[in-house]
Amino acid sequence: MKTYVTTPIYYPNDVPHIGTAYPTVAADVIARWSRLGGRETFFLTGTDEHGKKIENAALNRGLTPQQLVDELSTAFVSSFRELDVAYDRFIRTTDEDHVRLVQEILLRCRERGDIYKGVYEGLYCVECEAYYSAEDLENGCCSLHIKPVELLREDSYYFRLSNYREWLLQYYEEHPNFILPQSRHKEVVRFVSAGLDDLCISRSSFKWGIPFPFDTDHITYVWFDALLNYITGIGFLDQPTQFEEFWPEVTHIIGKDILRFHGVIWPAILKSAGIPPPKRIFAHGFWMINGHKFSKSLGNSILPNYLISRYGLDPLRYYLFRECPFGEDGNFSEANLVRRNNNELAKGLGNLVQRVITMIVKYREGIVPVSGIGEEPELEIEKAADSVVIEVSAALANLALNKALEAVWGYVTRLNIYANTRQPWILAKHEDSASLDTTLAHLAEGLRFLSTLISPFMPASGAAIAVRVGLEDVPQIGDLIWGGSLTGKRVEGGPALFKMLDAPVEYGSELLSFESTQLVEPANISQEMANRM
Ligand code: MSP
Repeated sequence: MKTYVTTPIYYPNDVPHIGTAYPTVAADVIARWSRLGGRETFFLTGTDEHGKKIENAALNRGLTPQQLVDELSTAFVSSFRELDVAYDRFIRTTDEDHVRLVQEILLRCRERGDIYKGVYEGLYCVECEAYYSAEDLENGCCSLHIKPVELLREDSYYFRLSNYREWLLQYYEEHPNFILPQSRHKEVVRFVSAGLDDLCISRSSFKWGIPFPFDTDHITYVWFDALLNYITGIGFLDQPTQFEEFWPEVTHIIGKDILRFHGVIWPAILKSAGIPPPKRIFAHGFWMINGHKFSKSLGNSILPNYLISRYGLDPLRYYLFRECPFGEDGNFSEANLVRRNNNELAKGLGNLVQRVITMIVKYREGIVPVSGIGEEPELEIEKAADSVVIEVSAALANLALNKALEAVWGYVTRLNIYANTRQPWILAKHEDSASLDTTLAHLAEGLRFLSTLISPFMPASGAAIAVRVGLEDVPQIGDLIWGGSLTGKRVEGGPALFKMLDAPVEYGSELLSFESTQLVEPANISQEMANRM
């Protein structure tokens, strides 16, 4: 089985912020989980580099558009490196193979009779040198220059999107999981049912784009160019075998704002070019700050590099998918990030790892002991380990990233409770050697499972847990069969996996609205343990 997962390609004239990190890290989680399951995986991300805005910005800076995008796209590459995103290809729409591909598909669609020349008429701001729709305007003026727009006309090529309305509606009906979540599927069906206009796919008023192969006065207008990245990236032109194998398995992760382009225009273009539609499209919600989509004026708080340097990468990656259901909008709050870090990561998982390793070092000279036959509490821990693997697999197959993390933290809590029930420090005092061995072996084995389960979300912490329990690598999902694979391994101590973080300035005001978690109070546990050991 194969996995192919994509993110939107980003406009490089904006800085990479938390909204662009979100789909990219989500795709990274899916790709990492797929690789851990032994599936061949291809993960594509990149930048969407053509268009009037880039051409103007380059002009203003005395650069060619190509020089400008070469410079800007590196910000995305380095942001994704800082986010520990392991993509297989970073595509740029200025890549040579993509330019060739767009021209090839334009030819195919024309042959099919789906491209014709018409006249584009629109409301044009001379200052911006851009068309606006009536909804973008304020009292008939462009909101940037506060000047009235003009009605302009230019020759343009059109794609016969309207021809595909019936086919699309039938396709949606036959493939109810094509667009997810379900509410988005319904939204698209409603939109298409209301009727489709043909799509303008060329411009002649500026030059920064892919030239039409059959009319070089025209360049390809942005969406026709951008959407095709998904088939360039997997080798439609140059690696047809790879394309054949991966394309049927593709999942496009996108934001809800670009759903119509993906759910309507994209399958129609593919159909016209004789290529099957993608397998599924998942539209996530928006991160907001105080109920507003964020803008640059909010400053640092939305920049991944600021958040990483202040709070750490893994806490950020965890927060993004634990805080709000993937598919819905969420309110980004540094206070809640800190709170979750402190309660769920530092005191929950981090403390569990720390005390298990400390006890194995203290009572068994750092070697994982052989487990005896367990009783009820051990059987529960073993059964719960099997269930959590199944739950996480099911949740991630449906892109319910928050559900996967909820299941994993349920298991963290169980292991903490198990340690409290068995009280290894008392067993050690009473020299109940067999029970102590069984308890410590079960706790270590639980950590082995957790290493795999958290690693798609928090790769560094997953790898660190593997090392702590004496393994070289994070176990594959197929290795998560409860047993004695750690017996005789030497555990490794180390600093706390997660630091307790100081509250940000806004913390106090948000404390009240934060729901308390179900975790055992590990702060007390460790204090209690410290007293007893
Ligand atoms: N270039 C197009 C996509 C072409 S895909 C063939 C584009 N680029 S974008 O840079 O403006 O946005 C990229 C993605 O970032 C979109 O999916 C958008 O939803 C996402 N986000 C931008 N701001 C966001 C939030 N505040 N929250 C979550 N995601 C957001 O559109």
